[in-house]
Amino acid sequence: MTAPLIDPFQRAISYLRVSVTDRCDFRCVYCMSENMTFLPKRELLTLEELDRMCSAFIGMGVEKLRITGGEPLVRKGIMTFFDAMTRHLDSGALKELTLTTNGSQMERFARDLYAAGVRRVNISLDTLDERKFADITRWGRLAQVLKGIDAAQDAGLRVKINTVALKGFNEDELFTLADWCASRDMDLTFIEVMPMGDIGNEDRLGQYWKLSDLRARLRERFTLTDLPERTGGPARYVRIEETGQKIGFITPLTHNFCESCNRVRLTCTGELYMCLGQEDMADLRAPLRNNPDNDAPLRETIRAAIARKPKGHDFDYSRQSVDGRVSRHMSHTGG
Ligand code: GTP
Ligand code: 5AD
Ligand code: SF4
Repeated sequence: MTAPLIDPFQRAISYLRVSVTDRCDFRCVYCMSENMTFLPKRELLTLEELDRMCSAFIGMGVEKLRITGGEPLVRKGIMTFFDAMTRHLDSGALKELTLTTNGSQMERFARDLYAAGVRRVNISLDTLDERKFADITRWGRLAQVLKGIDAAQDAGLRVKINTVALKGFNEDELFTLADWCASRDMDLTFIEVMPMGDIGNEDRLGQYWKLSDLRARLRERFTLTDLPERTGGPARYVRIEETGQKIGFITPLTHNFCESCNRVRLTCTGELYMCLGQEDMADLRAPLRNNPDNDAPLRETIRAAIARKPKGHDFDYSRQSVDGRVSRHMSHTGG
């Protein structure tokens, strides 16, 4: 391994999030507009190029790889890529290979993912109501995702549910979701909606439900104890004393967690974003493609990019319009 990646704020970069496609089979209203245009397929890194990129990062100290999208499981041939990453788990260089998914294709992929070495998946689910699910995803079928969750658990994958906290949408399901996850032994993490990308006529500010308010609501019924543990991701956790259940909170707006940031993001076209909430990026596709047999220029570009990693994001609802200050969509960098 070469020298580890350390940014200007002495944060070691050990977590790479890789968006393997910007496409998705849903159009969640807080994430995309209905008539979203996607990149032409020829723009995408090939699966072999994705392998080479990820292997370079692993050689530079990345220990956790999270595959995202869009929806990662709609990328054609994606299992070939997961299977290729297994060698890094086997060598011990990679400690975790995982993904964030909307669950729609999980029924088909769960067993193969487990066989490739995936042990934990994060599945996005904002409601347990069929009609509301169809509304928020614009056409998704809840039953398909629930089957996917069953399949994941049956295959031996540990499941964490990600729920974006949305005012007037899932406020009334707080306890239903928590109870449902507890009954299935799944962790649950709530996320504050972030101002990213143009989402058409949707009212971003109107959607925003502060997690400090959500937490106060939980406290009306339960005793919450803060837990010190972190998973290497941005969530902070509490335990509900009455049930033993663990609940996570991802609070980019009310409680910024950037000081402990350990991650960068690669897009499906080979752009490296050093922060989810900033526009600066580095093109890694050119050094990769221009040097088919030599990774040194790629590694050099990666190091120069990490040296520009900013201290934190600028998300702030009080200082901006509802469309947000980051113009790209969450699906571009996979969250
Ligand atoms: P684990 O902790 O490993 O389970 O995963 P994670 O929470 O890092 O990943 P996941 O893909 O489930 O992300 C959940 C939410 O956290 C998504 O909405 C991401 O956009 C958000 N998120 C992840 N990393 C960051 C970050 O560095 N900054 C901000 N603002 N949000 C992040
Ligand atoms: N703000 C917060 N979370 C979002 N997600 C998608 N768009 C946004 C947004 N604007 C969530 C998805 C998924 C995760 C990758 O990011 O619901 O759980
Ligand atoms: Fe697709 Fe996830 Fe965005 Fe929903 S949040 S449209 S499931 S990428």
